[in-house]
Amino acid sequence: MPVAGAPPSPPPGAVPATTPPRDRREAVVAAVATAVGLMAGTLPARDFAAPVLRLLGEASGVSRAYLFDFQRKADGRHLVTQRYEWTAPHISPQIDNPDLQGLDMIDAGFGRWQEMLLRGEPIVGEIAEFPVSERPILEAQQILSLLVQPVFAGTRIHGMIGFDACSPREPWDGFEISVLRIAAQAWGAALLREEHDAQLRHMQRMEAMGRMAGGVAHDFNNVLSVVGGAVEALQGDAAGPATAGNDRYGRILRHALDQGRGLTRRLLDFSRPGGGQAQELDLGEMVASALPLLRQAAGSHVRLELRRTAAPRVRIDPVQCEQVLLNLVINARDAMPNGGRVRLEVGPDPATAGADPKGAGARTSLRVTDNGPGIPPALREQIFEPFFTTKAERGGTGLGLSTAYAIITAHGGTIRLGPAGGVGAEFLISLPSAGPARARRVRAAG
Ligand SMILES: Nc1ncnc2c1ncn2[C@@H]1O[C@H](COP(=O)(O)OP(=O)(O)OP(=O)(O)O)[C@@H](O)[C@H]1O
Ligand SMILES: [Mg+2]
Repeated sequence: MPVAGAPPSPPPGAVPATTPPRDRREAVVAAVATAVGLMAGTLPARDFAAPVLRLLGEASGVSRAYLFDFQRKADGRHLVTQRYEWTAPHISPQIDNPDLQGLDMIDAGFGRWQEMLLRGEPIVGEIAEFPVSERPILEAQQILSLLVQPVFAGTRIHGMIGFDACSPREPWDGFEISVLRIAAQAWGAALLREEHDAQLRHMQRMEAMGRMAGGVAHDFNNVLSVVGGAVEALQGDAAGPATAGNDRYGRILRHALDQGRGLTRRLLDFSRPGGGQAQELDLGEMVASALPLLRQAAGSHVRLELRRTAAPRVRIDPVQCEQVLLNLVINARDAMPNGGRVRLEVGPDPATAGADPKGAGARTSLRVTDNGPGIPPALREQIFEPFFTTKAERGGTGLGLSTAYAIITAHGGTIRLGPAGGVGAEFLISLPSAGPARARRVRAAG
C-alpha cells in the first residue's frame, strides 16, 4: 500500500532504510528458505523463534520482527500477547511492554485486524493510512509501516507474525508479502507438529501407565481375594468366639475390602477401556437416560441441565459412556461444594457442523460446563494425567479424568478442556459418527 506524497520523517534514533528493493527481495527469499529449514527440523518454537525472527527481520530491513499468540475467549474475542521479538540495533524492544500482554483486540481498537487475520489475510501498510483507532498503540512504538501475517496451526489461528519499520522503507511489495507468508505458514506447521508430538508422547505415557495400572490391579486383586477369603473364614468360624469386638473388626475388614475392590475396579477401568460393548446410539438419548443417575450423583445442591440438538449417531459402550458422564459430573459437584449448575449439551460438533451426518467427517459433541471455580491455568496441562488430583486428602485417586480420556480415545474420540478464561470448567468431547463404520461393515459383507 504505497503512501501518497513524501514519507513521514523518521523519528530520532531511527535507522535509515538503505537496502534497495531488489536486493531486499533476494535477501528475504534466502532468509525465508533458511528459516523454513530451521522450523521444519525438530526444534520447538521457543528455540527456533529467536534465529527465525532475526533472519526475517534483518533480511526485510525492518526494525522489529515478532510473534504474538492469540488466546480465544469464550465470547469469541481474542486476547493477544507478544511472545517473541527481535529488534534491530537502537530500536526499543517491546517484549516487556505491558500494553502488548493480553491485549483485547476489539477493546484496543483492532477489530479490523482480528477479522482480517481470522480470514487469513495480512495487515500491511503505512500507519498514517490506518484507521484512527489503531494508530495510538502503533505510533507509541514509533512504527511507520508494518506487515503482519496470521499464523495458523492447521485450521486454528495460533497468532500473528509481524514486521515493524520505524524508519521510512520502500513499501511492502506483493512478492515479499507472499514470501513472508510462507514463513508464517511454516511457523504454523511447526506448531502443529509440536502439538502432535506432545499428543503422541501423552498417549504413549497413558498406554504405559495403563499397562502398569492393569498389572497392579491384577496383583492387588489376588491379594484382596486372599484377604476376603480369610475374613469370610474368620466370620464363618463357628468355633471362634462371636464377641462384639470380633464383629466390629469383621466390619472394618469388610469395609476395607470393599474400598480395595473399588480401587481395583477403577484401575482396571483406566487400564482397559474399549474392552466393553460399543453400540450405535443417539448420544443425546443416552445422556437423557443417564440423567436420573447423574442427578443422584450431583446431589440436590447442584442443578443439572441437558440441552440436545439432533446429532449424528455414535458408536460407544453405554456403560463406559455413563462412567465418563459420572466422572465429569462428580468432578463438577466436588468443585462446587456450595452448589451450582452443570450443563450437558449434545449436538453436532461445531467443527464439522456442515458435514453429512452419515459421512466420514461428521462428529457429535458433548460439552459439559459448570459454573464453579474452573481449572486454574497452571493445572490445565496436568488434569488428564493419571493419578493427578487436588483432592488427595478427600480420597481422590486422580483416575476420573484419565479414565474418561482413555474411554473416549478408545472410541476414536477426543476430550479436551474448553478455552481458558471462561466461567467455570468446560470439557469438550467429540465422537466420530457411527455412519462410516456401518457403511464399511455393509461393504465388507457385500
Ligand atoms: N469441574 C472441575 N472444576 C474444577 N476442577 C476440576 C474439575 N474437574 C476436574 N478438576 C480438577 O482435575 C483434577 C483431576 O480430576 P480427576 O477426576 O482425574 O481426579 P479426582 O477427581 O481428583 O479424583 P477421583 O476422580 O479419583 O475422585 C481434580 O482433582 C481437580 O483438581
Ligand atoms: Mg474425579
